This record gives sequence, structure tokens and C-alpha cells, in this order.
Amino acid sequence: APGLDDELKQAIRTIADYPKPGIMFRDITTLLGNARAFRRAVDQLVQPYAGAKIDQVAGIEARGFILGGAVAHQLSSGFVPIRKKGKLPHQTVRMAYALEYGTDEMEIHVDAIKPGERVVLVDDLIATGGTAEGAVKLLRQIGADVVAACFIIDLPELGGADKLRAMGVDVRTLVTFDGH
Ligand code: PRP
Ligand code: MG
Repeated sequence: APGLDDELKQAIRTIADYPKPGIMFRDITTLLGNARAFRRAVDQLVQPYAGAKIDQVAGIEARGFILGGAVAHQLSSGFVPIRKKGKLPHQTVRMAYALEYGTDEMEIHVDAIKPGERVVLVDDLIATGGTAEGAVKLLRQIGADVVAACFIIDLPELGGADKLRAMGVDVRTLVTFDGH
């Protein structure tokens, strides 16, 4: 319903020219700090999977951890962290990924998922999709069945959601912002 979408959208703060000139930064800390909006966002992220058997929720460091933990709790599934390189103590699989400026690397523990487990990927926002694409590749590399990826915010003009759909991932987003 448009009313619900508006309430979430209004709970997100926009900071112009952060971290660089020309970037409109979509800041979810105001949504997280609004008890009603935070609950509503998590409820809406979870809703498509209520009653589905989801074994694991994977969250992408850092903002994906906040939402992913809440989603995993509500689905009674496990939680798997996908971290920036050098943070996970056990044996990992590592993947380079493209950001708007340059590249970075992310990792997952090799044994974080049992082969064939059904996984939902969670992050706060999808822009170019470089981050989520890297996460899906890592999850598949260790044998996950990536059922879906969900995000609070989509920036459709940057093409990330379409890129993930082209990889065969069901993508769900709650709020859309035009422009970059
Ligand atoms: C932001 C956001 C997503 C990613 C989306 O994370 O939280 O994870 O960028 O961008 P993309 O679709 O173009 O890949 P960021 O790397 O800024 O770090 P953080 O979550 O640790 O704050
Ligand atoms: Mg992030």
C-alpha cells in the first residue's frame, strides 16, 4: 500500500553531497531509531517468507547486519555474516567486488552454509548491485540455494536490482528513490 511505503520513505534521511559532492546519501539511521518504522520495515522484509522454510539469512557488513539479524530472528533461521576482508577467523572464501569508486573484497566462512540450504540475502540498499552480486556469488560458491535478496532501498537507475534478477535471484525492495 502506498501509505506504508510513504511512512518508511519519510523515515529515511537524505544527506546531500555525502560522502562526495553529487551523492545523495540515503541514511537509514533515522529509520532504525524510529521504533514503529523499524518494526514495519522488518515486518515487510520478512512477510514474503512467512511460512517458507528459510535455513539461513545472510547479511552484508555493516548495515546488512542490523537488518539481517532482525529478519533471521523473525524467520527462526540462522544468521550468516558476509564480512569485509580480514575479519572472519576461520577459513574463508573471498570475492572482489566493485563499488562506485574502486574495488574491495568480502568474505564468508567456507562452512557457513550446508550445501543446498535455502538462504535469503539481506542488505539495507541496492545501488549498482556490485556488493550484492559479490555476496550471491560467495553464497553459491559454498553451496547455498539463494532463494531471494531483499533490501529496504532500491536506487533503480543504478541497475543493481535488474543485475541480480539477471542472475536468477528474486529481488524485493520496499522503497525506491530516483536519481543516484
Ligand atoms: C552500502 C550499502 C550497500 C552497498 C550498496 O554499503 O549499505 O551495502 O553500499 O552499493 P552497491 O549496490 O553499489 O554495491 P557500504 O559499502 O557503503 O558500507 P557499510 O554498509 O559498511 O556502511
Ligand atoms: Mg553496506
